[in-house]
Parts: sequence; structure tokens; C-alpha cells
Amino acid sequence: MQKPKGTYDIYGEKSRQLLYLQKLITSLMEKYNYKYMQTPIFESSDLFHRGVGETTDIVSKETYDFKDRGNRNLTLRPEGTAGIVRAFIENKLYVDASPLKAWYFGSMFRYERPQSGRNREFNQFGVETFGSSDPMIDAEVISIIVNLFKILGLKGVKVNINTLGDVESRMAYREALLEYFKPYLDNLCEDCKNRYAKNPLRILDCKIDADSEILKKAPKIEDYLNENSKKHFTKVKEYLESMGIEYVVNSKLVRGLDYYTHTVFEVTSEIESFGSNNVLGAGGRYDNLVKTIGGPDIPGVGFAIGIERLLLALEAENIQITEEENIDVYIFAMSGAEKKPMISLANTLRLNGFNVDMDYFNRNIKNNFKHADKLNAKYVIIIGEEEIKTKTLTVKDNETKEEYKVSLETIVEFLDEKLGDE
Ligand code: HAM
Repeated sequence: MQKPKGTYDIYGEKSRQLLYLQKLITSLMEKYNYKYMQTPIFESSDLFHRGVGETTDIVSKETYDFKDRGNRNLTLRPEGTAGIVRAFIENKLYVDASPLKAWYFGSMFRYERPQSGRNREFNQFGVETFGSSDPMIDAEVISIIVNLFKILGLKGVKVNINTLGDVESRMAYREALLEYFKPYLDNLCEDCKNRYAKNPLRILDCKIDADSEILKKAPKIEDYLNENSKKHFTKVKEYLESMGIEYVVNSKLVRGLDYYTHTVFEVTSEIESFGSNNVLGAGGRYDNLVKTIGGPDIPGVGFAIGIERLLLALEAENIQITEEENIDVYIFAMSGAEKKPMISLANTLRLNGFNVDMDYFNRNIKNNFKHADKLNAKYVIIIGEEEIKTKTLTVKDNETKEEYKVSLETIVEFLDEKLGDE
């Protein structure tokens, strides 16, 4: 049996990296006062069609759709925003959106051509905030990505930003694009012909037509922004500058999902050895999405980072995020007769906060010490007939090889003293 194409197993060093990132993100999110949220891995297909958009590649080509045994149309989530928005509405979280600041971490599924940094199942860490249309929160959200990468020590990252404007500006731009592309329709790819009718903005994002002169000369959004949209974008930039965050305005950036208004951004890894899937994290403002999905008129802004891509970027920059693994104590018994005291001691030490492993194979002394070294144990405890009789344990410092006799009653204090300040 083999895993499905585009998926992978997480174990060993990768699993330690993943857990480390989860821990780091949890603590970072506490600093920003964002609250963890979890939503189902599958939702009704309709949610993604309405939320992410019918014309997007994600919905038109990449979703994992299935019918359950009750004949419901369900989809494995291709991204996190739509589910969080659905939960926000369904649980009436908008009652206290002052603002509501949420984060999530989990698997997403897209039927894409698998390659480095592009998987069919991948993890995203994302945030979504609801209730504030203040450009300050757009800048705060961008700062989270930048700060996470800074803490990790990633250097070659670039923040690309753009605005799509508010509804009025977007409509004006849409009209301009429709007019502009009309005479060139036959020259565009099949997907773009389809996009022309449904969402002409997405033509600008086309990978096939990207280098054509037609696209290069297309009208620019900045010429269609109304005052409100211009003001919002200027403020976002000012707030970024006030935090010392460098950015590049990229007027071609439209993003591959339909729900954005105003600010959109992508953070890329610019180091040469990194592959073509170099967008590590991306997001933007979506002031109409809550309403589109059937909720009240409440604005939102958020982003998602691709965890696998982030790990690839760390590898490409030679950044080590995990330390060598070790345990506090390794215990072994001299014979089967001391197995009960051994498991009992392990239990006590674990309850007292020590990381403990023990011999499950009745190894001989030499092999037990070998195994303790493999586990990087700081102390080795030996329990034999003599130890049981005298209620005294033989404890060996596995680094200095110094040996101690410690009474069973004081073993916790002993280890506390030895390991306490680590
Ligand atoms: P997205 O640009 O589709 O946005 O995905 C965000 C990030 O997920 C990408 O920048 C990339 O790092 C990672 N990613 C996407 N597809 C794959 C894949 N097949 N394999 C590995 N990594 C991948 C969203 O998903 C939006 N929900 C972001 C957002 C949140 N906007 C507002 N709030």
C-alpha cells in the first residue's frame, strides 16, 4: 500500500519541526491576542463555491468533492478562510466582533500537480480577523507573517502588496478591463475567455497569458481607485512603515481567490535555491465575504502561510529550528523481578515533570547504556535486587559517568536539583 499522490507522512525530524512551529505560532498568537479556532476538514461544497469563487482554479479544478452516505455534497477544505467565516456566522461570533481575531492550523486539500512546495494535502497556519475596517489591522496581519519569519531567522523574504479597492472601484476597474480585453478575446487562453465573462480581474493572474503584451498593457487598478480606496491603501502603507516593515507595491497582484477587496499581499522567499513555488504566505482584506456567505455586513482581513513551504525555505537558508532530542532519565531493571518498581518509578517521575523512558526489552547492562546514549539520556537509573532491598537507587550521570546512591524517597528532589535550572 502506498500513500496517495501528493501526500506525505510526517515523522522523525520533520515531525519535530512541525511541533516546534506549532509551539512557536501558539506563543506568537498569544502575544497578538488572537484566539485559536478549529473548523471541520470537510464542509458543504456550496460553501467553497460561494466563498472562494466559481471561477478560481481552486474551485473549478482543484477541490476534492465527494458525496457522503446521506447523499450530501461535501468538499475537503482547500483553504481555511471560508470555513472560519461560516463558523463566525453560524455561531454568531459577530455579536462580539470587537474585533474577533482568530487563528488556525491544519490540513488543506487541493488537487494540484504535485511538485516541491505544492502538495495535495498541506498545512496552513492562518489568521482571520472580523469587525474592523481600520487599515491598521491590515498592517497588523502583515506584521504577523513578517515577525514570524524574523523570529525564525529567515532573511530572503519580500512583502508584495497591492489594493483591489472597494466595490465601487473594483466595479469601475472591471468595466475598464471588459472593454480593454473585448477585442483580444480570441488571443486569450480558454480559461481567460471564461474568466472574461465571470471575473475579468482574474485574467491578470493568468499563468498562461502572463507574458503577453495584451496583459502587460492592460489598465491598472490604481487609475480606477476612488478616494476611499486610495486612502485605505495609503494608510496601510503608512502603518507598515511605522513598524519598519519593508514592502513592494506590485500592481499585478490580484490573488487567486475571489473574495478580496482593498489590501492584498503575498510574502515570497527570494533566495535563489528556492523553487518556483516561492509564495510562503498570502492574504488580504475581504469586506464582502461574510455577507456573501449569508452573514451580516462585517469586514474581515487575514492570511495563510504554507507550512511545508516555510520548512523548505528554512532548509534552503540552512536554518536549524530543532535542537538535538534528549530525555531526562532512562531506567532499566536488572531482571524481570524489578519491572514493577521500574514502571512505578517511571510513573512517579513523569508525574513530577521529568521526561522518562525505560527498557522494554530486558536488555543486558551494556545494551541498556548504549540505548540510553542513543536517547541522549541525561541520567540513567538502575533498579536491581540490591536497590529494592535497600530502597536506594543507583543513578548515573550519563555525561560525567559519576555514580550516586539516592534513596527512593528523595529521587525527585535529587533530579530536581540536578535538572531544575535547565
Ligand atoms: P492561498 O494563496 O491560496 O490563500 O494559500 C496560502 C498559502 O498556502 C500559499 O501562499 C502557500 O504558501 C500555501 N499553499 C497553497 N497551496 C499549496 C499547496 N498545494 N501545497 C503547499 N502549500 C500551498 C489562501 O488559502 C487564503 N485562504 C489566505 C487568506 C486567509 N486570505 C485571507 N485570509
